Amino acid sequence: MNMQIYGILAHPAKHSLSPKLHNAAFKALNIDAHYDKFDVTPEELEDFILGVRDEDIKGLSVSLPHKEAVIEYVDELSEDARAMGAVNTIKNVDGVLLGENVDFFGTVEALEDVTKLANKKCLVFGAGGAGRAVVYGLKKCGAEVLVLNRTLEKAKKLAEQFDCEYGGLENSVNFDADIIIQTTSCWLSDIDTKLLPDGYLKPEMIVMDIVYSPLFTPLLKDAEKAGCKIITGDKMLLYQAFEQFKIWTGKEAPRERMEQVLKNSLGK
Ligand code: ATR
Repeated sequence: MNMQIYGILAHPAKHSLSPKLHNAAFKALNIDAHYDKFDVTPEELEDFILGVRDEDIKGLSVSLPHKEAVIEYVDELSEDARAMGAVNTIKNVDGVLLGENVDFFGTVEALEDVTKLANKKCLVFGAGGAGRAVVYGLKKCGAEVLVLNRTLEKAKKLAEQFDCEYGGLENSVNFDADIIIQTTSCWLSDIDTKLLPDGYLKPEMIVMDIVYSPLFTPLLKDAEKAGCKIITGDKMLLYQAFEQFKIWTGKEAPRERMEQVLKNSLGK
């Protein structure tokens, strides 16, 4: 049998850590497969996807900006991908392309390592693609969700779709959260962004930031100072990679090996 090909489909693709994670996993389990980077522009997407069947690419991680656009080109959609309106994983089963979405899985699993999510009060910052996946996952686990976003209209739309509360960024004040999850890209544009009022964080709270560069974001630093349990963004990346690996190979991912590779890549 020829070596199996997998890869990340994105634009740009060069910063992705997924090749390191999945190639280490294939090697650890002695699977004759290679994970590549496919940097494909929106204009090239249709031709690329048509070529997936011909070139016998077995699976793809789908990232920005293609998660919604690929829906049109896959043959079947999982329930999660349909509900989220986005695909982050493609599996090629004998020429039939299955579109799945395990983006929510990373956050949910990382949180479930430390707490049960059912009936927990969760404050989610951000109503972009990542926020959407997180809200979907939390609701699926029976949590109560308040989503706050700089652009109110986007929070409203997301809240209406997934049946949760919403507000502007300043609306955390009257919500006594058990769990706080930060999904915006605010640290990229303004590292001094203040998302929570002084004194809001309590030691019994769990705080997760899905951003992994920097790994210890200003919010996580504040949360650590306040005595909260913190979860860094590398966990989201890692846990969703475990799930993708399982979808493609039918095998449990070599978790420790992948965790070690990610740690080394992030210089932890
Ligand atoms: P992603 O798919 O990574 O979530 P996105 O869909 O572009 O990316 O969403 C980015 C999110 O970060 C949005 O919630 C955005 O808020 P707006 O909807 O108001 O644009 C949020 N965001 C980006 N920069 C921000 C900043 N400086 N302060 C607050 N929120 C910010």
